[in-house]
Amino acid sequence: MNQNIKIPFVDLYPQYEELKSEIDTAIQDIIYRTDFITGPTVERFEKSICDYTGAEACASIGSGTNALVCALKALGIGPGDHVMTVGHTFVSTTEAIVNVGATPLFVDIDKFYHLDTEEMRKVTGSKEFVLPELKAILFVDLYGQTPDIDKIKTFAKEYNLKVIEDAAQSFGAEYKGKKVGSLVDLTCFSFNPVKNLGAMGDAGAVTGKKELIDKVRMYRNHGRRTQFEYDVVGYNSRIDNLQAVVIESKLKKLNEWTEKKRKICHRYTAELKGIVKCPEEAPWSYHTYYVYVIETPERTRNALQKHLKAKGIQTNIHYRSPTHTTKAFEQYGTKLPRTEYVCDNILSLPCYFTLPKHHQDYIIKAIKEFYNS
Ligand SMILES: Cc1ncc(COP(=O)(O)O)c(C=O)c1O
Repeated sequence: MNQNIKIPFVDLYPQYEELKSEIDTAIQDIIYRTDFITGPTVERFEKSICDYTGAEACASIGSGTNALVCALKALGIGPGDHVMTVGHTFVSTTEAIVNVGATPLFVDIDKFYHLDTEEMRKVTGSKEFVLPELKAILFVDLYGQTPDIDKIKTFAKEYNLKVIEDAAQSFGAEYKGKKVGSLVDLTCFSFNPVKNLGAMGDAGAVTGKKELIDKVRMYRNHGRRTQFEYDVVGYNSRIDNLQAVVIESKLKKLNEWTEKKRKICHRYTAELKGIVKCPEEAPWSYHTYYVYVIETPERTRNALQKHLKAKGIQTNIHYRSPTHTTKAFEQYGTKLPRTEYVCDNILSLPCYFTLPKHHQDYIIKAIKEFYNS
């Protein structure tokens, strides 16, 4: 094997390269027009998100994290309320719940790394649980595909709960043939640079029915109803128009890029199945593979990561510490055996759509070599 090879975990530049003239022109246009926040650029951007996802309305927002906060606020979630969620996620999911004053009620995950719909019932039956306080479910489309949303909605209906989808990692994904964006009360997207559809900085959006999205719009813009009327205590979390035009340009390429990425992921699975546990596509799912995550056998994750690093292959872990075990949130902690096991054994491989074939070969060979030695 070539020891000089260096494979980064992500490679964002080719996305820009492919759209350089369009993005440059759009950015220049914003600068010439000094049109930096709000106005027709944002409205056009929001419409393009609705057109793509099929959502009735969209409120663009400064980040995926703030999308979650404003969505919770718009649904009336606050102090005293409990929100059912997972610990196996990026910290923003839990952070948003706690920042609106609510309490996360953690549930373990299933084989797809999603909120386990069987476990949900067990949690509601536990003695710590006080039913009237549970107001919402905030589930996560971890790694780029959704859980079984119908099951979650049936449960939510039974308990009269709001449902929020953290779709930070799943823009472009489908559930039973329908695009993520209008499947639950509110859907929250992140467009941070490494996401499926990435800006050149922070950006996000919330999609859903118009009435609720109007509330999200208020929260993202200082709680404003009109220029000088502030109906609720809000935030300053509007999208930069520079980001809006970058995302809009990339949106036209998204399906093609996702398909290319899926091919690489399918190849990994064909080659690595049986050696490590490869991601499974749920039967209801069009998986966008935000990240390609393997589960290593017999606690070999750290050694495999070291081996790959020595070969010049950069990997990552999504995520090393479940949120319910970290200092900030341990007061809400509980035991989530599968979540905790998974976090000790998962490893994310490089899987961007421009990953050359010879780099794919090199990564596959390095993993096989590790397990055959
Ligand atoms: C699952 C999940 N939720 C929320 C976020 C927050 O998004 P952002 O970084 O745009 O605030 C991210 C990504 O960072 C994420 O992966």
